[in-house]
Amino acid sequence: MKNIKVIIFDAYGTLFDVNSAAAKTKNKIGEKWEAFANYWRTIQLEYTWLRTLMGRHKDFWEITEDSLDKSMKVFNVNKLLKNELLDLYKSLSTFPEVNQTLKELKKKQYKLTILSNGTPSLIRNLVKENDLENIFDDLLSVEEVKTYKPHPHVYNIPIKKYGILKNEVAYLSSNTWDISAAGNFGFKTIWVNRNNSIFDNLDFNPPMQIKNLNELINIL
Ligand code: LAC
Repeated sequence: MKNIKVIIFDAYGTLFDVNSAAAKTKNKIGEKWEAFANYWRTIQLEYTWLRTLMGRHKDFWEITEDSLDKSMKVFNVNKLLKNELLDLYKSLSTFPEVNQTLKELKKKQYKLTILSNGTPSLIRNLVKENDLENIFDDLLSVEEVKTYKPHPHVYNIPIKKYGILKNEVAYLSSNTWDISAAGNFGFKTIWVNRNNSIFDNLDFNPPMQIKNLNELINIL
């Protein structure tokens, strides 16, 4: 990839494993833990999109709690687990290859940035919990524009901040809808397809896909 000035990462699902919170309570939730975790994530994202369309912003932490409340009711999960699940969500683990790859990219002096729906304090905390404190140049949050991905205002945050062209950004996400939006916006996208998923039909085909971040080293 040529003329890349910054590598921008999505956070939830791309660097940090959103299912790792429910996975840690597997024994208490039982077999349904994974379906419950996937449902929670789906409702959380739907609430970000719906609130953006309604023009009624609430921050990502409040949305995470609102969507958890609904999901716990739907899956009949013991109410006493709520605080434990929320605490675990504040310290989600990175996927196994993430730390090593980011350290190598940092050594090669790439500018590395996160652009996330998460609030600044949520993202700072995840970075700290996973020992990634000296890796990123910036942790950018949708809270700057009070609207969620996939609104173009969000992808414009780094463009304004760095005064660069859209095609000077390499943007990585495992969320297909996020890649569709970032690609339509004009970023050079790399889809992180860990689970052999099917891509969306949203007027954009990702020019590049990788199975995990390790492969990034050979592409850049
Ligand atoms: C984020 C969500 C989309 O981190 O995963 O922005």
